[in-house]
Amino acid sequence: MMPKLWAGRFEKPTDALMDDFQSSIPFDQRLIECDIAGSIAHATMLGEQNIIPAADAAAIVDGLKGILADYRAGALEIDKSAEDVHMFVEALLTQRIGEAGKRLHTGRSRNDQVALDVRMYAREACTHVAALLTDLLDVLLSLAGQHLDTIMPGYTHLQKAQPVTLAFHLMAYAQMFMRDVNRFDHAYAEADVMPLGSGALAGTTYPLNRERVCELLGFSDVTDNALDGVSDRDFLLSFLSAASICMMHLSRFCEELVLWSSNEFGTAVMDDGFATGSSIMPQKKNPDACELVRGKTGRVYGDLTALLTVMKGLPLAYNKDMQEDKEAFFDAYDTLAKCLPTFTAMLRTTVFRREAMYASAGLGFTNATDLADYLVGKGVPFRDAHHVSGVLVGKCVKEGRALTDLTLNELRQAHSAFDTDVYEAISLEACVNRRSLRGGPAPVSVRQSIDRAQSWLKRRRAGERI
Ligand code: ARG
Repeated sequence: MMPKLWAGRFEKPTDALMDDFQSSIPFDQRLIECDIAGSIAHATMLGEQNIIPAADAAAIVDGLKGILADYRAGALEIDKSAEDVHMFVEALLTQRIGEAGKRLHTGRSRNDQVALDVRMYAREACTHVAALLTDLLDVLLSLAGQHLDTIMPGYTHLQKAQPVTLAFHLMAYAQMFMRDVNRFDHAYAEADVMPLGSGALAGTTYPLNRERVCELLGFSDVTDNALDGVSDRDFLLSFLSAASICMMHLSRFCEELVLWSSNEFGTAVMDDGFATGSSIMPQKKNPDACELVRGKTGRVYGDLTALLTVMKGLPLAYNKDMQEDKEAFFDAYDTLAKCLPTFTAMLRTTVFRREAMYASAGLGFTNATDLADYLVGKGVPFRDAHHVSGVLVGKCVKEGRALTDLTLNELRQAHSAFDTDVYEAISLEACVNRRSLRGGPAPVSVRQSIDRAQSWLKRRRAGERI
């Protein structure tokens, strides 16, 4: 049983129920590397400032390095009786190096210590998730490059609307995931501020060199208000918001892939490696990877809601409620860290059925707008042209025909401006190719969009946060 480092003013030990209830070590032990790095920087600075003897600082740094090495070698047994990872490391250090270990916590509180550790961990999480997103973007851009001419129906209200291409559709998701990277970069920047020196809430009387600790730990700045320094979990909320929005994007994509892989759509076939079967229905091939990502979106929203709710009624500064921040944050991070690579691999191996997409785009009058636009090109006002096209669609619906099945005579009965060039004008290819303005589905436009995304990715990979 590890000694309670704060036991001085107490006459009785904590109740076993309370020990179990308040312990955070089962989940905060994953902060151990950040905790040790933070303590090494703090002790180094304490020595340099002559706040503790240089020899003690050196002994502390050595001792902490030893603990880190043992941890990395899998040789460190985490003592679950310690209240949290911070107490565990400090108590273990003192066990190992003796008196000098007792000087580590000079000018520091667990309140600024935990804020530091979580900020360091959040920086890693943001960097990792952004990297996973750029892997996904690679796959999206490469698939888009292969499907510039793959015509498929675009939908509104899940009703066929206008023909687009698969590349165009995939690039819509690329835009979302690029914005997600930006959001994680923003969360990173929020986390990247160094809180040590805030003490418990009111700073400290020791002449700490906060800038030195900031530099040692590679932070961009130091926090500017001690109360806020220990109370702020906005950077986690930013991470959780970015995570929720990113999961929402993945979930929409998954929903579409579930639809497309259904018998009714039949436009996507998932690789066997990312589908599952049924225990009773031998024919089944279920898109479980997509469904699970869609389902796990709910838990990430839950994590965001949990932390927002934990924080909403807290008076300044630290309150133990805030210990609840970690499980929500870790859960969302772990969920993303699993969903993203699985989704990326699933997407990379999915086969998109070009012919089925093309056939589907040919149904449902996706060229009706272009029929109206054709008449506009012949001088007819758009509102009238819309009506004529609508009348022709109505006729085709009744007769079970497509617009391109109508004879020139039939078209002319609806409006005299129709001519033989109408058939070419309302072909699916023409519908797509004519939409060549920036942001449109024409292959030339989408090619440019892919190129822009590729150079964005290159700059992002070179370390530029955009
Ligand atoms: N385990 C605590 C947490 O995660 C560390 C900070 C404890 N501070 C305190 N004053 N009890 O929030």
